[in-house]
Amino acid sequence: MGWWIERVVPRLTHATLDNPVVAGYRRRVCAGLTGDVLEIGFGSGLNLPHLPDAVRSVVAVEPSDLAWEMAQDAVARSAVSVTRGGREAESLAQPDDSVDAVLVTFSLCTVRDPAAVLGEARRVLRPGGRLHFLEHGLSPDEGVRRWQHRLNSMQGRLAGGCHLTRSAPELVESAGFDLTEVEHWYVPGPGMSKPWGYVSRGVAAPRPA
Ligand SMILES: C[S@@+](CC[C@H](N)C(=O)[O-])C[C@H]1O[C@@H](n2cnc3c(N)ncnc32)[C@H](O)[C@@H]1O
Repeated sequence: MGWWIERVVPRLTHATLDNPVVAGYRRRVCAGLTGDVLEIGFGSGLNLPHLPDAVRSVVAVEPSDLAWEMAQDAVARSAVSVTRGGREAESLAQPDDSVDAVLVTFSLCTVRDPAAVLGEARRVLRPGGRLHFLEHGLSPDEGVRRWQHRLNSMQGRLAGGCHLTRSAPELVESAGFDLTEVEHWYVPGPGMSKPWGYVSRGVAAPRPA
């Protein structure tokens, strides 16, 4: 399984998520990012082409060496300075109040401990900073949810720990953020793809203590 997760999952993920439909969603989630951005689960760098000019730097948090290697072409093409700033977002090396925005796309589904990751996101955000997220997750439709629960453990085994049953907006709110923008939709496709295709995009502000 180590070989599958290390050598195959990053390539499968890139192949699945590198397409024009998802690129349109990436543009939406990246809109409004400014300054120094920390990206959780950087993967193969698919968000880089969608960063607005107002972004100054990106710190990439990514455990997979292969994904980071695959990102190098995009990193070289990017107008923004990109550095790898750690592996597991459950415990970040960055100081408190050190970034203007945190970006996370299709990764809250996979991280070991989403509450810890979001707690760290909150900690490193400067006052006025925002969390931008784009995630697939738990559908509000009962029939789809049933399938998501049935397929969840298989998904986890095949896709490196990915869950179909997490709700990003709920996780974000439980971690002490207020949602300032949120929208949901199904990725276009056949009905049987719905367990993987319920997507939420949002922007969230740390709730004042
Ligand atoms: C489905 S991929 C998404 C990649 C990228 N964000 C994208 O939108 O194309 C999930 C990513 O989260 C990373 N990941 C898994 N556990 C993590 C953790 N604890 N902290 C940070 N990233 C993690 C994986 O290595 C993988 O690159």
